[in-house]
Amino acid sequence: MTSTAPAGPRHVAIIMDGNGRWARRKGLPRLRGHEAGAESISAALRACRDLGIQYLTLYAFSVENWVRPKAEVAGLMALLRRFLRAREKELHANRTRLRAIGRIGDLPAPARKELQRVMDSTAHFTERHLVLALSYGGRAEIADAARRIAARAKAGEIDPASVDEATIAAHLYAPDIPDPDLMIRTSGEIRLSNFLLWQLSYAEFYFTPTLWPDFREADLAAAVEEYRRRHRRFGDIG
Ligand code: IPE
Ligand code: IPE
Ligand code: MG
Repeated sequence: MTSTAPAGPRHVAIIMDGNGRWARRKGLPRLRGHEAGAESISAALRACRDLGIQYLTLYAFSVENWVRPKAEVAGLMALLRRFLRAREKELHANRTRLRAIGRIGDLPAPARKELQRVMDSTAHFTERHLVLALSYGGRAEIADAARRIAARAKAGEIDPASVDEATIAAHLYAPDIPDPDLMIRTSGEIRLSNFLLWQLSYAEFYFTPTLWPDFREADLAAAVEEYRRRHRRFGDIG
């Protein structure tokens, strides 16, 4: 593979962090920060449309986030349901398919049902994709893939000697979605927090101190502009 000055990105993944701090700075309850953060999702979707980004993956709730106070978790799940209801029209208008990755079975039934309903109603769109990572963990995803591969090997469907990177990739939550080109994390934290460990191996990383509820179209455009200045080498020289 030759070195590439990237066009695109085709797929952007975002760790939407800083909702709690945004609320605290304003003297508001944390949940108000999450509500404000939901508004930023619309801005990110608009920016993706304008910038020609086909796939947007958003880290909405990690498999580790279940340890948060019960009221915050319940508030986030209720917000997810409200968000899906309120934004369904917008997804249709923008011909955007909704997908989900993560241990979706962990979600409370009302949120899970709403998610399934909107995924079904947008399943025919192919131009743009919004992928929500919910009860998602990168290690959990790889472990879930390993378990399924082991079960299929036991059933005689897979030869253990043939298991390679493609086998693992094919058993992840959304194997048809291309790897992210650009990963953005807001709020100044410089870590992955178990996000897309497999898929981000060659992504470009962009960290911004902006808190997620303050993130707008211009912030995504700035990240994309920086991405386009980078040189992706994929192990090659140049
Ligand atoms: C990100 O914002 C949203 C979720 C993890 C659900 P946080 O809630 O982590 O906000 P901070 O990091 O406490 O500011
Ligand atoms: C990562 O943010 C998860 C999401 C944005 C959903 P966290 O706020 O949970 O990450 P840590 O705990 O600071 O690493
Ligand atoms: Mg956080």
